[in-house]
Amino acid sequence: MKKVHLKAYGCQMNVYDGERMVEALVPSGYAPTDDPAEADLILLNTCHIREKAAEKVYSDLGRLKPLKAARPDLKVGVAGCVAQAEGGEIVRRQPMVDFVVGPQSYHRLPDLVAKGGVDTDMPEESKFDHLPARPKVRRAPAAFLTVQEGCDKFCAFCVVPYTRGAEVSRDPGRIVAEAEELAARGVREVTLLGQNVNAYHGGGATLADLIGRLARIEGIARIRYTTSHPNDMGEDLIEAHAAEAKLMPYLHLPVQSGSDRVLKAMNRKHTAEAYLRLLERIRAARPDIALSGDFITGFPGETAEDFEATLALVREARYAHAFSFRYSPRPGTPAAERAGRVDPEVAAERLHRLQALLTGQQRAAQEAMVGREAAVLVERDGRLPGQRAGKSEHLMAVHVEPDGAEPPAIGAIVPVRIAAAGPNSLSAVRTG
Ligand code: SAH
Ligand code: SF4
Ligand code: F3S
Repeated sequence: MKKVHLKAYGCQMNVYDGERMVEALVPSGYAPTDDPAEADLILLNTCHIREKAAEKVYSDLGRLKPLKAARPDLKVGVAGCVAQAEGGEIVRRQPMVDFVVGPQSYHRLPDLVAKGGVDTDMPEESKFDHLPARPKVRRAPAAFLTVQEGCDKFCAFCVVPYTRGAEVSRDPGRIVAEAEELAARGVREVTLLGQNVNAYHGGGATLADLIGRLARIEGIARIRYTTSHPNDMGEDLIEAHAAEAKLMPYLHLPVQSGSDRVLKAMNRKHTAEAYLRLLERIRAARPDIALSGDFITGFPGETAEDFEATLALVREARYAHAFSFRYSPRPGTPAAERAGRVDPEVAAERLHRLQALLTGQQRAAQEAMVGREAAVLVERDGRLPGQRAGKSEHLMAVHVEPDGAEPPAIGAIVPVRIAAAGPNSLSAVRTG
């Protein structure tokens, strides 16, 4: 049996794609391995979102060189968004690469592994119609499931519309079938993935409709979805947060900036006020929802005043969790060509201030849980004997402490009381 080692960079969709790539190679006689040294094939599933992410691929390839020199039969492939953006340029820069495959053509992986080459087609046919059914391997209790892919929004800073292509929704029947397969392998929680997941419109169904159908699968206890765009937050989806017990109270809703001027320049197509009013409606439906977001500092033209508006929005919105980045100009995107470049040091200093504010909010959200009841999906063993680690409804990391009784099984959902909040996780005791 040959072995494949996969490394995924970037977003959750790359993790999901990576699993499906490995599965696509099972019929060719491959089994997965965590150890690159024992692999016959190394696949890098890459991310192009910021310069640092894209450059990481080349440093990792450099590090693989001695391995390849020692074992010329070792195959190295580059997949994902850098593959899509750079194509054959990757092989010119790093001739040790045997093949390059984009995010929409990896169902052709077995052929590429055998013959080498560059495949960055965005074919008419969907890869999902050609990938093998999910094999019968044991899975972790939480899984990702792509329901929508690609983006038509063209935010001025972003490469995703170019690397993932146009927005496409998968057929709801197929998605339900895949979730049933996952549930049959012990999966309890599915996170529905899409670059604009709430724009889902497969077979006339909205994301809320799809969530309703998935909630009827018995083994699936928890449903999440990510990433949402504020302009696609439908009334029925907001309503689902009030009505659907299996839909978890967590929402990743990026806003990027709190300045209307910057939002306009970013082509986000909504104002800061519209975002805040939307949050009010969502919180009216589900008052305890944990809010998460993405932010960019130093977008071209961003003034000190614009940045203050971002801080003001964050103070009003109250995030339980967030990701924030310094603007990185990306080749081929409209913003990369623009005047008004912000000094990278100024952008870094703003990022630092923003992160201090967001970290404080995250702490406050964690501390507010102390003394409260929660339910934890147990995902793995903790570091201490008898300790288990998992996630709460609000996607907070929780350690379930040993209490003398038999510790809960992986995949169990256990009622707990939160006893303490650490910097990165909560500590809890079982109540049942
Ligand atoms: N589809 C999602 C996010 C996609 S990328 C959405 O619409 O929000 C994830 C995050 O990376 C973005 O939300 C943004 O905050 C950040 N990002 C994207 N392009 C970037 C760039 N050129 N420089 C810095 N951050 C960027
Ligand atoms: Fe990128 Fe904007 Fe599309 Fe999100 S909505 S993937 S940030 S272009
Ligand atoms: Fe990166 Fe592509 Fe995801 S650029 S963030 S891997 S969609």
